[in-house]
Amino acid sequence: MVSELPPEECLTLSPETAPVPGLRYVVTAGGSLIGRVRVPGDKSISHRAIMLGAIADGETHVSGFLEGADSLATLAAFRAMGVVIDGPAFGRVRIEGVGLHGLKAPEAALNMGNSGTSMRLLSGLLAGQRFATTLTGDASLSRRPMQRVTEPLTRMGARIGTSAQGTAPLHITPADGLVGIDYAMPVASAQVKSSLLLAGLYAQGQTCVTEPAPTRDHTERMLTAFGYRVHRSGPRVCLQGGERLNAAPISVPADISSAAFFLVGASIAPGSNVTLEQVGINPTRIGVINILRSMGADLTLINARALGGEPVADICVRSATLRGTVILADQVPLAIDEFPALFIAAACADGETLLTGAEELRVKESDRIAVMAAGLAALGIEAEVLPDGIRIQGRGEAGGGALWDGGRVDSHGDHRIAMAFAMAALRATGPVEILDCANVNTSFPGFAGIAASAGLGILEQA
Ligand code: S3P
Repeated sequence: MVSELPPEECLTLSPETAPVPGLRYVVTAGGSLIGRVRVPGDKSISHRAIMLGAIADGETHVSGFLEGADSLATLAAFRAMGVVIDGPAFGRVRIEGVGLHGLKAPEAALNMGNSGTSMRLLSGLLAGQRFATTLTGDASLSRRPMQRVTEPLTRMGARIGTSAQGTAPLHITPADGLVGIDYAMPVASAQVKSSLLLAGLYAQGQTCVTEPAPTRDHTERMLTAFGYRVHRSGPRVCLQGGERLNAAPISVPADISSAAFFLVGASIAPGSNVTLEQVGINPTRIGVINILRSMGADLTLINARALGGEPVADICVRSATLRGTVILADQVPLAIDEFPALFIAAACADGETLLTGAEELRVKESDRIAVMAAGLAALGIEAEVLPDGIRIQGRGEAGGGALWDGGRVDSHGDHRIAMAFAMAALRATGPVEILDCANVNTSFPGFAGIAASAGLGILEQA
């Protein structure tokens, strides 16, 4: 077990400025990660804090808010709809809730940038408003499938126009009243579930969503914290429209999806010893811990406690000899954002790692199966692309030293791919150069600085 390191070694986040187009990382080979690391606030919870705080009665005070471009896009959207929001300042945000029916028509289209969560959740919430809105996004978001929300929302009575391909921009016009539906989701998606529940707040009667496998439940937890009645029975979650939300303070835990890069980096780099502070360990998010443990990672959870309605802990991680694994289907939705990092762990493991049932990875900020496989190939790591996953031949038999050459990897503007390959440099013989890294700012502002303070030889170059 890792002993607690002195507090003065804490690494803290300093908010960054806007994304820099063409930003790349150059990461020197080798090294280890040491110290206490506090990664920024949970992205999913930060989005929901703004959304629910805005439509609650009363003032919501948020701490630990993620000051990344994605959650800031959500914040800007609600400001544009007349909600007074102070901050963020050092993670603190004050929201003057306008009540369920207090939002006002924005003067222009709402730009969601790179953020699928903003677009999908807001489409549900906005479907119930008495004014029209248009939601736009960047090139990546404009390619991502939106029918998964527009189709069930239309069944509720929503009026949403999309491109011929079912993509953004989304044009939402006022409905003649929404009605609750009982919807069995074909994909395990928390974004779809949340979108329908948010529309359900404005619908007549009951809205129920059944998930094919457990997905993150932050919306349900936060609605409950705001005094809204949500009923869960096994995989089915239901609420009645028309209740009120009462403002409640929200403390956002550190994002396990951002912590994942350090969990992997410290596991693969010999001599590492890192403590990640106050990380959200909601059971619907801990696939990365389960999968790394199944690979032999040395992870210890300490100081487990509740923060608001969410469980958190400090996670101690020390380098370990990893072995390949077969990733179980039930872990896929629980680790859906962590696969880029997990693929790097798999490349360092002894033996093969097999992932299937993960076709959702193909419609994230990039096609994460194809883009990760191309990046692994650029470093000389063998991987077989499957329609719904990947088979990676680990190099772990080489023992504690370097496992691959350096090289140049294109992240395709995908934040999590950029950060995953930054960690891959810990086991390279030469520098790893990663292209198109500006979007790291969507989920992890300050990543390079925090990683460098922990020992990664990372430089940002415009
Ligand atoms: C999210 C849900 C996940 C995840 C995304 C955030 C959320 O998407 O990939 O980064 O906050 O609800 P899906 O639920 O569509 O898989």
